[in-house]
Amino acid sequence: MNPNESLDGTLTGLRVVIDAGPTYEDIDPVRFLGNRSSGKMGFAVAEAAARAGAEVTLIAGPVALATPAGVARRVDVRSALQMHAAVMQAVQGADIFIATAAVADWRVAEYSARKIKKGARGTPVLELVENPDILAEVAARDPRPFVVGFAAETDHVAEHARAKLERKKLDLLAANHVNEEIGIGADDNALELIWPGGSETLPRASKSELAKTLVARIAAHYHARHGKPA
Ligand code: PMT
Repeated sequence: MNPNESLDGTLTGLRVVIDAGPTYEDIDPVRFLGNRSSGKMGFAVAEAAARAGAEVTLIAGPVALATPAGVARRVDVRSALQMHAAVMQAVQGADIFIATAAVADWRVAEYSARKIKKGARGTPVLELVENPDILAEVAARDPRPFVVGFAAETDHVAEHARAKLERKKLDLLAANHVNEEIGIGADDNALELIWPGGSETLPRASKSELAKTLVARIAAHYHARHGKPA
């Protein structure tokens, strides 16, 4: 972030909902399907939004992170269905929704209340069913908040991200290239911001630095559309 730029008060009076971290999809009492998201990016965005004066609700998947300073409300969830329910409740009347979570696209069709045993039935085959797309569902609401999505891509980042922006009807999308060094689970990230009329590259930096710049950009786009409050 440009050192002359300040976050102070840019989101004062606004309600911001952020989801963060992975979701875990339980298979049986001891096993689950998960992903490598640590929650660091989403928690950094929550901290930056709170510093910008927003009333922040943070919906967190299973992560080992302390609630950032200034966050008004934290709701802990485990599965995509729980995250879906928590987000849908929190976004009612919200001004901005930022979806940083790595939500599982699928869950197991049938949870086994007993631990699945190795044995006579051979290797189990898991049947999966699709989880609700939380981001697309928030973007389809009327009225809806200003909607910011993330996209984790391993290739053709800008191309896939613009397709996602259009398909999910987002106001802004932050795309990151995930590899061994940056992105998921790491301390650093690099973002390609994409919106209907343009794009901007935010080069590699710590997630906390990137979050400050991202929140400044979200505030600018939001106020360009709604007019800055007096
Ligand atoms: O948590 P960290 O370790 O800090 O890593 C950060 C991150 C890499 C997870 C984060 O920066 C990021 O990219 N988050 C989005 C990851 C992702 O799931 O991307 P996607 O391309 O699969 O999904 C696109 C968007 O749809 C995302 O905003 C996602 O939150 C949302 N989504 C996806 C599926 C679903 N069922 N519901 C959703 O809301």
